[in-house]
Amino acid sequence: MSNLEKFINGLPKAELHLHLEGSLEPELMFELAKRNNISIPFDSVEAVRAAYKFSNLQEFLDIYYQGAQVLINEQDFYDLTWAYLTRMKADNCKHVEVFFDPQTHTDRGIDFDIVINGINRALEDGKKELGISSFLIMCFLRHLPEEEAFKTLAMATPHLAKVKGVGLDSSEVGHPPSKFANVFKSARDLGLKIVAHAGEEGPPEYIYEALDILQIDRIDHGNRCLEDEKLVARIIEEGLTLTVCPLSNLSLCVVKDLTQHPLKVMLAKGLKATINSDDPAYFGGYLNKNYIETQKAINLTRDELITLAKNSFKGSFLSQQEIDVHCGDIDVYSLG
Ligand code: HPA
Ligand code: ZN
Repeated sequence: MSNLEKFINGLPKAELHLHLEGSLEPELMFELAKRNNISIPFDSVEAVRAAYKFSNLQEFLDIYYQGAQVLINEQDFYDLTWAYLTRMKADNCKHVEVFFDPQTHTDRGIDFDIVINGINRALEDGKKELGISSFLIMCFLRHLPEEEAFKTLAMATPHLAKVKGVGLDSSEVGHPPSKFANVFKSARDLGLKIVAHAGEEGPPEYIYEALDILQIDRIDHGNRCLEDEKLVARIIEEGLTLTVCPLSNLSLCVVKDLTQHPLKVMLAKGLKATINSDDPAYFGGYLNKNYIETQKAINLTRDELITLAKNSFKGSFLSQQEIDVHCGDIDVYSLG
């Protein structure tokens, strides 16, 4: 193990872009399929992993929504979330802001309450037993109509104490942020934080819409902002964080090769980029593996790694006081 790999492993960090459904490992998928008597179109864990070869976002999404069908009972959502948190403990991750896709479940007849209560109970236990703090972000599926997103927001209203923010995910191209202008306005009026996937496959115009119309607090992915210098300048001026996901970008062919990943360029321009895993069960690695593989591919320096870890707290929805404590811990670790 290289010195920088050791350094990454011990570095305190936060994860800001993680879909809980994307942390469903094939082993747990099989266990839940058996527990819930659901048939899945694979014979073995190896066959599932072999099917995880994607040439774009949509090919991944088709398999990801299929995998989520094994999640039925509150305990299933608990087990999914708990498995992710214990995995994050091993990566020395101190804080997570995780997405879930309620419509993937409510559209199959699963109650919103079952989904959120299972996830929330695991997040509370994660805080108590693992010392990992967390916020939950509810995503709207952008391939569905805005009216469906409104129904989801209504279902969430009795649970607002458990939800920090709303996001926008699923098939990007053809479903611009402007399609969801009204529901995001309602979410903002409820005091929720706003994030959106933008510029993963979609053009810079979608990032402008996310800024101007949705009034986002943070950009998920955002890679394609680099095609527009004015947009880059604006993102820097507004101090917005980008939740970049290198192994996801590689798996979904957003980049040809990790050595071509623009993360170093983003940092050099002054963008507040962070490293995240997106859907680790599907893209071959959790948080530290994303740091380690990217470090190796583009020669991230120790100082860049420190900046990335600090950005993960600075870009979080924690209080300034909590952010300062975590960044202080990073200073202590990197000096020690
Ligand atoms: N992009 C869009 N939707 C998603 C993703 C992603 O990377 N992961 C899970 N849903
Ligand atoms: Zn994502």
